[in-house]
Amino acid sequence: MEKLLELKNLTVSFNHNGQKIKAIHQLSLAVEKGEILGLVGESGSGKSVTARSILGLLKGSSKTMISGNIFLNGNDLLGKNSGQEGNLRSREMAMIFQDPMDSLNPVFTVGYQIAEVFMVQKKMAKKQALAKSIEILKMVEIPSPEWTARQYPHQLSGGMCQRVMIAMALAKNPELLIADEPTTALDVTIQAQILQLLYEFHEKTGAAILFITHDLGIVAQFCHSVAIMLQGEIIEKGKVNSLFMNPLHPYTRGLLDSIPIPGQKKRLTPMIQDLEMGTPLKGCKFFNRCPQKMGRCEWETPRFSEPIPHHFVRCFIHGT
Ligand SMILES: Nc1ncnc2c1ncn2[C@@H]1O[C@H](COP(=O)(O)OP(=O)(O)OP(=O)(O)O)[C@@H](O)[C@H]1O
Ligand SMILES: [Mg+2]
Repeated sequence: MEKLLELKNLTVSFNHNGQKIKAIHQLSLAVEKGEILGLVGESGSGKSVTARSILGLLKGSSKTMISGNIFLNGNDLLGKNSGQEGNLRSREMAMIFQDPMDSLNPVFTVGYQIAEVFMVQKKMAKKQALAKSIEILKMVEIPSPEWTARQYPHQLSGGMCQRVMIAMALAKNPELLIADEPTTALDVTIQAQILQLLYEFHEKTGAAILFITHDLGIVAQFCHSVAIMLQGEIIEKGKVNSLFMNPLHPYTRGLLDSIPIPGQKKRLTPMIQDLEMGTPLKGCKFFNRCPQKMGRCEWETPRFSEPIPHHFVRCFIHGT
């Protein structure tokens, strides 16, 4: 398989009231062409910062420091000047966020916003692009697409706006779609429909998806591979089957144990954010909560080992 996106030692820090906060530390991760990779982790683990770094949304602020590499089709986005980099990003990536209202422009109709993608990318004339936008709205099963195209984002429900975002992604025809908790704000039925649409989008276009979620149930249904994130680091990654059958890291096991099973009254494993900002750089990030910790876990950071082929973990139980 060929790598589409590769993050190498990505480190992101913020300057917050004179204090340096490391949100992501030496993160390495790859998404292969056509793959759906789930990025899972508790709140504050750095999932959105990872997404925003890839999309180039963190650059340009003097309070943000980014180092490492972000390769997209072999081109290092962090090494390019901003014009080249923006071009590569906008040609090859699209995004969907938890709250579509954040990404849709409130002063243009949704039809115009989709049409704009065709006008800019394909240099289509406005009339033709507007007709194309209605076609695309039909593809994401929007009822009355002609009417919907004339609405402004605030006139549509959250589920409809998320469909519009998927329509815009379809119009862009990207190689990589980054979806940051795209269904979290929606009710369960709409959630299922949006996931189905995203899956169809993937099947139709062959696009890879980086799917950010805290819901392992969705990962099991939807993703090929999964990476588990904890306090700015990936601590386990592998194919979905391998990770669900043989979770290696005590944190991953805790996450899987906290999925409710019908008929079993299992208490959720408490996932309390015990280390606040300014996390110490040394040692395993799960040390304070780990039921299997050893002395060295507090001081040494475990490196990735591969106890099962293509299944990697950072834990001294399995490696060094
Ligand atoms: N602009 C910023 N300035 C300072 N700190 C930030 C900034 N953006 C994010 N952070 C911090 O970086 C860490 C990671 O945040 P991030 O939003 O990536 O978490 P997340 O995994 O997406 O969480 P959630 O599941 O709640 O969306 C958090 O501690 C957050 O407070
Ligand atoms: Mg987030």
